[in-house]
Amino acid sequence: MNRRSFLTAAAAGLVTQAAGPLTSPARASASRALKGDPFTLGVASGDPSTGGFVLWTRLATDPLGGDGRGGMPARDVDVDWQIATDERFRSVVRTGTATARAGAAHSVHVEVDGLEAGREYFYRFRSQGRLSPAGRTRTTPAVERPLRFAVAACAHYEHGYYTAYRRLAEDEPELVVFLGDYMYEYGPSGYTALAGRVRTHTPGKCRTLADYRLRHAQYKSDPDLQHAHATAPWLVAFDDHEIENNWAGLVSSTGAPGFARRRADAFRAYYENMPLRRASLQGAVLRVNRRVSWGPLARFHLLDTRQFRDDQACLDGVRAGCDDRLSAKRTLLGSGQWSWLESGLRGSDARWNLLGQQIMMTQRDYKVGPGREVNLDSWDGYAPERTRLLGSLAATSNPVVLTGDAHMHHLADLKTDFDDPDAPVIAKELIASSIASDGDGYRDRTWIAEAVAENPHISFIDQRRGYLMARLDRDELSVDYRTLDYISRRGARAKTAHRVTIPSSAQARA
Ligand SMILES: [Fe+2]
Repeated sequence: MNRRSFLTAAAAGLVTQAAGPLTSPARASASRALKGDPFTLGVASGDPSTGGFVLWTRLATDPLGGDGRGGMPARDVDVDWQIATDERFRSVVRTGTATARAGAAHSVHVEVDGLEAGREYFYRFRSQGRLSPAGRTRTTPAVERPLRFAVAACAHYEHGYYTAYRRLAEDEPELVVFLGDYMYEYGPSGYTALAGRVRTHTPGKCRTLADYRLRHAQYKSDPDLQHAHATAPWLVAFDDHEIENNWAGLVSSTGAPGFARRRADAFRAYYENMPLRRASLQGAVLRVNRRVSWGPLARFHLLDTRQFRDDQACLDGVRAGCDDRLSAKRTLLGSGQWSWLESGLRGSDARWNLLGQQIMMTQRDYKVGPGREVNLDSWDGYAPERTRLLGSLAATSNPVVLTGDAHMHHLADLKTDFDDPDAPVIAKELIASSIASDGDGYRDRTWIAEAVAENPHISFIDQRRGYLMARLDRDELSVDYRTLDYISRRGARAKTAHRVTIPSSAQARA
């Protein structure tokens, strides 16, 4: 059975059905039967290391049960888990039992270590006599090994079907980097795409822990999303919409009271629904800035550009004439994360250093013709810190910046001075379009030509939905900008609209 047939079979339940029960006995507390299948939200894995990864599931017999509890009783439930080296689970290498706590929305996070480096594993759960779908994951290599990875962001559930997640899975990445707006907080039609909506959010804007849990359950019920999670480990980081549009630190963009409480609840629900390590949830702080290495080849530096930032300058928005954005006192990363990043870049012995972060780093003038209007929510609103970061990247081995948020593919040169055509290029910024946000895409060639003319350091823009598929080895990073022509109906193919190949600096000099 090859990989694709494994996934097809797993999706159809054939692999798990053929494979006999897990060996670990159920505990007494789990003996009262649940009504229905508890694995309706699928399985996931994340944050791989040389010895392991995080395995995730969340039990919900009725995902949209109304109170965010997914139809589950107010008691803890035991969940057995199993890891094998083959998709039929004939060669099981690790088993255990975890407790899905009622207080954690019956989520399960199993942190596995001590496995073999650089290999594929299969995992599944069992609870109440039911088997979960099987997932595929992998440990990172200890030696230099090429990497195929995907980059994705922004998946508004109402705006379209998740065909892009399905196509991403079919491209068989070994790792998926997700850069924010995994879910959106708006109530039904609170944010509409041009073509309207193809399905409807759970009622109301997310405000309470129950609201966020319910919304996550709705998103996780999608079979295409479940398929993408079951294909490879993910590195996830949130942006704004997992909490609220354009929040900054402890400041709500709407000025509504009680934001600290809401943020803590949204963080908690996010953790409960993602394959993150337990250490990421630190009281009211959710720490997602972290590093993951792929042997000596690559190091991912995941950033958090929301939680520790100063409020947006000049009341946010896209506008001209905001001197505040040029204040060196303002920070996007916060001092703690800044020091962490600086020392991590300086100390990195990886050949490639990939920054995974949320918002557009390149300068972007939105005004056609004389004058300049910039998006104060992006790095343009924190320009001096960007200059300092580019200075650090200039001293780093093969830096590349990976970005979400824009809902359009972009390829840009990051420069010390964006207004100087002769200024050196420090790194490429690769911006992934959205999985679903803004609905069916299009190509407005006039608009693109104007945008590129206004911003000569940006060489490619595509307004269709999609994701990035990258191949990395010691000599080059090759990236396909994958696009889909529509998502208002199911079944669109993914095409490569553009390919960029970035040679390593050592290779470029050779
Ligand atoms: Fe978004």
